Amino acid sequence: MTSLYQFQTADYLVGGNQSIEKLAELLKERVTDLSTVLVVSQVGLIELGLLDSVYKQLEQEGIRAITISSILPEPTVKSIQALADEYASESFDYIVAVGGGSVLDAAKLLSVLHTNNVTVQQLLDGQQATVEGIPTAMVPTTAGTGSEVTPNAIVTIPDQELKVGIVSRFFLPALVILDPSLTTGLPKPFTAATGMDAFTHAFESYISNKANMFSDVFALESIRLISDSIVESYENGSSIEAREKMLMGSMYGGMALTSAGTAAVHALAYPLGGKFNIPHGVANSMLLPHVTSFNLDSMMERLPAVAKAMSIHEEGDTLEQTADKIIAQIEEWIRVLNIPQDLKEFGVTDGDITHLAEAAIKIKRLLDNNPKSLTVLEIENLYKKLL
Ligand SMILES: NC(=O)c1ccc[n+]([C@@H]2O[C@H](COP(=O)([O-])OP(=O)(O)OC[C@H]3O[C@@H](n4cnc5c(N)ncnc54)[C@H](O)[C@@H]3O)[C@@H](O)[C@H]2O)c1
Ligand SMILES: [Fe+2]
Repeated sequence: MTSLYQFQTADYLVGGNQSIEKLAELLKERVTDLSTVLVVSQVGLIELGLLDSVYKQLEQEGIRAITISSILPEPTVKSIQALADEYASESFDYIVAVGGGSVLDAAKLLSVLHTNNVTVQQLLDGQQATVEGIPTAMVPTTAGTGSEVTPNAIVTIPDQELKVGIVSRFFLPALVILDPSLTTGLPKPFTAATGMDAFTHAFESYISNKANMFSDVFALESIRLISDSIVESYENGSSIEAREKMLMGSMYGGMALTSAGTAAVHALAYPLGGKFNIPHGVANSMLLPHVTSFNLDSMMERLPAVAKAMSIHEEGDTLEQTADKIIAQIEEWIRVLNIPQDLKEFGVTDGDITHLAEAAIKIKRLLDNNPKSLTVLEIENLYKKLL
């Protein structure tokens, strides 16, 4: 545990089934004379009808909508810069982002790029935004990255085969709407992968070197909600109750990681996303049991609380039994949720391991949070377990 700790989050959060219906009212409360909104999403989500209510409300209120619907999954630096340039001369009062982490992260960058004289590349190089962006309303449709409550935006750099996180307090949204009805149509593979990503945020925050009295509360509640509902939301996707627990669990996971940070699972997952386009949640799920086994001796005393939150702890369990139960439960989820467990399925070969490990060891920001330090060789061995 660190002695100094911090927490920050979005300005205003609204939850509940059909809460999206409140969007226009909430926007008008925040900006008098709201005239134009930039809607950021993806064609597929618009076609599914996920933005019908947004457009209907904006039209009813006479608010003009400009739409960007071309956000790539796991967006690249170039794609976001191109959109920022294309819309630089447009004027809008608010950004409304409806989508998964890819859309929310893109919207954060578009917001800040619009008001700061800076490029995505300069932000990657460490330059900071100095003024607030266009205010954002974030509506997550996956559960999820928790991006709606984090100051992070993650971009892919294909030429360097990397994914990198950019951090700015100006990325935090003004408004968050957590409406589980928007997540009931999330297909099973995405429900599984994004749900395990959310669990990983909570778990890694709880065992992080930066874990603290803010993050522990959010992490354990996130673990409790997700453990209770991840299988149900996968098997019975239309269950509002399960989807709501996942959405809240994902948000609490985002709050936990904002304060404590993620660790080695995320550090090792990034190169898999950057080079082999393995979806973020899938990469995390694959690594989670192996990195957890590796970390065990440095975090044993943290595990009973995790097992209790997962409802798998029994009176009298030893620390070793508790650890075994946690890893077994994670492996069981991966099996039930049909998450791939073999990097070969994504085209990774033995010859790629050195390069992957060299990329992962550079992600110091996250490796520093890991309860146990890792050498390049240890990272290589962890990747090898997935081949
Ligand atoms: N900012 C953060 O704090 C943070 C944290 C973790 C991950 N991330 C980043 O977020 C991105 C991944 O986000 P994600 O896991 O939410 O996936 P995503 O946004 O890429 O979405 C996955 C797929 O699901 C579709 N989809 C989304 N919602 C849907 C719905 N309700 N119904 C049907 N289809 C739907 C999308 O169109 C996409 O094809 C990655 O780039 C990752 O690195 C960011
Ligand atoms: Fe993540």
